[in-house]
Amino acid sequence: MAQPMAQETLFERFLAPVFGFLIDREALLRYRNSKDWEQACDHFRQPNFVYPPYYSQNFHGIKNGYLGVDAAITYDPVTQYALPPNETWVRKGLVERIHAQPRRILDLGCGTGSTTLLLKKAFPQAEVIGIDLSPYMLVVAADKAMQANLAIDFKQANAEQTGFPDASFDLVTATLLFHEMPPLAACNVLQEAFRLLKSGGEVLILDGNQSTLHQTDWLTQIFDEPYIHDYASGSVDAWMTTAGFGEVCTEEVWWVNQVTRGVKPLPYRKVEFARFETDEQQRWVAG
Ligand SMILES: C[S@@+](CC[C@H](N)C(=O)[O-])C[C@H]1O[C@@H](n2cnc3c(N)ncnc32)[C@H](O)[C@@H]1O
Repeated sequence: MAQPMAQETLFERFLAPVFGFLIDREALLRYRNSKDWEQACDHFRQPNFVYPPYYSQNFHGIKNGYLGVDAAITYDPVTQYALPPNETWVRKGLVERIHAQPRRILDLGCGTGSTTLLLKKAFPQAEVIGIDLSPYMLVVAADKAMQANLAIDFKQANAEQTGFPDASFDLVTATLLFHEMPPLAACNVLQEAFRLLKSGGEVLILDGNQSTLHQTDWLTQIFDEPYIHDYASGSVDAWMTTAGFGEVCTEEVWWVNQVTRGVKPLPYRKVEFARFETDEQQRWVAG
């Protein structure tokens, strides 16, 4: 059953001393004690699930990274301060850059589902699925979706190899995922997104602004991230292009973040031109 909140969570390390007075610590403890977390996680745990080797380590100074209750329940209170000037504005930076009206959406590394919920609100008719490695994060995501009365499917899966069929999504997204993994894993995720998308489908990646992070060492040190230096010296834009996406474009979102968007190209289609003639402006036109 529920244990007392462990020390050395992100909350204890960073927030309690600085923002403690802003956060309802009692509410967090109530939530922690409100359920049997292991039983709730069993609802998401896949049999014989294999975690990628880079994942089973400490993140943010938390033992076992995301594979624990405290990481999951303190994630949202911390993240609201990690995405200046306003968490929702930053997340909407991704949603607002979606061009099409997707009918099937996959949010990779969805965590506690904050972006996943925004996607469902923006496209209520769409089927929205969020996947994550951590069953603890998925429990929080599912609770949030239920409270918001939003029908979203959450599933434990590896974003590098999701198990969904080819060409089964119109939109694939990832928020704050790539800085948490080695660049090779991020490239694998982009290749998987390419496989999952229908032709003409979009991929959007919201994460730290690589040029800002590259120049600002203190930013990369604040949250004790094992892969952020490699992420900061790379280019999501280049990785996405290499994965085969077209129309690749990266835009800054509130200085410290960026959104990279790409489109899976339409397949080559041979066109038969029946005839050529000149129009009234004497231009060659095909008929
Ligand atoms: C910083 S959190 C971001 C969560 C959420 N997308 C958000 O915007 O708040 C990174 C998440 O990625 C998940 N993750 C890391 N590697 C993953 C992988 N290969 N497949 C699926 N999820 C992964 C972690 O468990 C964690 O929940």
